Amino acid sequence: KKILVLNGPNLNMLGRREPDIYGTTTLGDIEALCRAAGAKAGHEIDFRQSNHEGVLVDWIQEVAHDPDLVGVVINAAAYTHTSVAIHDALKILHVPVVEVHLSDPSTREPFRHISYVEPVASAVFKGMGPQGYLLGIEHLLSN
Ligand code: DQA
Repeated sequence: KKILVLNGPNLNMLGRREPDIYGTTTLGDIEALCRAAGAKAGHEIDFRQSNHEGVLVDWIQEVAHDPDLVGVVINAAAYTHTSVAIHDALKILHVPVVEVHLSDPSTREPFRHISYVEPVASAVFKGMGPQGYLLGIEHLLSN
């Protein structure tokens, strides 16, 4: 069984990107944490990052009918607040979607208060740093 962990724009810069907000953990560190959690449960973690909206849409479509897929954890980053295309792609899925953010966007600038992922998500973990990804994976494993 497989869990897709999708990461949106600028998350490849974690560790060097606004560390006061996002911390010093790199995306590679987060990937390692996720892989360890998946391995413990005997699940494959397919961990991806793109700066391009269409690539994220392509990847969601790619797994949409994969019988091994049990769920998707997504940190859509800035596309969270703008992308109807990602919202629509997530609606194609027949598995649960978990929305994750390192920071808590609802306590930041007003333009981060809207999430186009939230209406499609069965759970949201925000403001918990990398731990949110692990809670997302646990949520999918327990459902
Ligand atoms: C983020 C929050 C978004 O508002 C922002 O655009 C990001 C990262 C987070 O993980 O806290 O790039 O998704």
